[in-house]
Amino acid sequence: GPPFPVFTRQEVAHHDNEANRVWVTYGTNVFDITDFVELHPGGKSKILLAAGGALEPFWALYAMHNQEHVLEILHGYKIGEL
Ligand code: HEM
Repeated sequence: GPPFPVFTRQEVAHHDNEANRVWVTYGTNVFDITDFVELHPGGKSKILLAAGGALEPFWALYAMHNQEHVLEILHGYKIGEL
């Protein structure tokens, strides 16, 4: 398929709330998780803590995310790369 668009961390940081849409990074991948916020098994308030930035610091604390099925959900929301 075509290459993904490339974004800066500054652009990602702008997308830190539902009005601007909610973006996060994982590694060098960028995701628009707005449509997943209400579906998150850990609740909306928790997932929004990562809005506009990297998932890694949060997933280091909540290690249940380090599973194949969680990464599959995440990758369904990929929109770009850093
Ligand atoms: C649980 C996805 C971000 C906190 C889960 C589960 C999924 C998920 C699929 C259920 C896992 C299972 O039981 O097998 C995601 C995705 C995220 C994200 C796709 C980002 C795009 C976060 C963040 C936090 C967080 C940033 C914390 C700041 C939690 C907690 C649970 C959980 C506490 C456990 C809920 C429970 O079992 O009671 N998440 N999560 N998540 N998540 Fe997330």
